[in-house]
Amino acid sequence: MIFRQLFDATSGTYTYLLASRRGGEALILDPVLEKVDRYLQLVRDLDLKLVKAVDTHLHADHVTGLGALRDRTRCVTVMGEQSGVDVVAMRVGDGDRLRIEGICLDVIHTPGHTDDSYSFAMADRVFTGDTLLIRSTGRTDFQNGDPRAQYESIFNRLLRLPDETLVFPAHDYKGDTVSTIGEERAFNPRLQVRSAEEYVALMNGLNLPSPKMMDVAVPANMRQGLAQEEIARRGWAVSAEAAVALAGRRDVALIDLRERAERAKHGVVPGALHAPYADLEENLEPGGVLHELASETGKRLLFFCAFGERSAMAVRAAQDAGLARACHVEGGMAAWKKAGGPVVA
Ligand SMILES: [Fe+2]
Repeated sequence: MIFRQLFDATSGTYTYLLASRRGGEALILDPVLEKVDRYLQLVRDLDLKLVKAVDTHLHADHVTGLGALRDRTRCVTVMGEQSGVDVVAMRVGDGDRLRIEGICLDVIHTPGHTDDSYSFAMADRVFTGDTLLIRSTGRTDFQNGDPRAQYESIFNRLLRLPDETLVFPAHDYKGDTVSTIGEERAFNPRLQVRSAEEYVALMNGLNLPSPKMMDVAVPANMRQGLAQEEIARRGWAVSAEAAVALAGRRDVALIDLRERAERAKHGVVPGALHAPYADLEENLEPGGVLHELASETGKRLLFFCAFGERSAMAVRAAQDAGLARACHVEGGMAAWKKAGGPVVA
């Protein structure tokens, strides 16, 4: 496995780059905006293809690199389903699996630091975001923080992982880089409590100053700018209502870009062709299934995904590939359902 722990000294943030092999797909966890050039250089150096950028939660101390990475690589942005961020391409929930080629992360909802805090576990390691830090825990005094929820997340979820599991947090301010579950259970001073009540009292008594970047970072992280707005300006978007009306027509092909797990969880649109976003480039090349479908049948490709982000990027790629009639369903499956479009389980 390719694994890199990258550090942003300004905010004390750890960013992780994961891939199963050189030349393969990569995923980045908690990227920092100012470091995006560095990440992309590393991705090139290691001959990787960045396919997913994930935030463990809405950060208050730095501006996320998610939007910039999406704009520069067309990667899929991922956050938890509780997140209020305007645009992420994929939302995950507790018990889901987040996959790239050769790597599978178990998604664990660990609220407390924020209500949208998630941890991501592999066989030998867990990325704990700001839920569990090395010899500390994430603060719970703003952004829908909740010390009781954090107690549950740590004691009933994270500490149930095997003792030898490596702990990689989203931050460290002391220079520590990695710990283990067993080590934190034994030596983390915040975890030496006998009850949830004691933990709540400890957290509520911390009286921490607000993070310096909070007033800048939170609003910036809430609005990552929509890939969809630009696509709509160019006339390449149709509303979900219009898409529902177009769905049965012989000259339109609905293309579902979501992953198999999303289709299983949220249902499928009858008659839509499944062509996952990860294979888009290949599918749009001459000889590729979407290229041939559009050029042989003259059908108009109508892309959709979960929220319209991946499909907006797909329209741009299709237009670049010469498929001038390609468009997408604004707001994706979420808007489709609201518009009363048919869905089967
Ligand atoms: Fe945080």
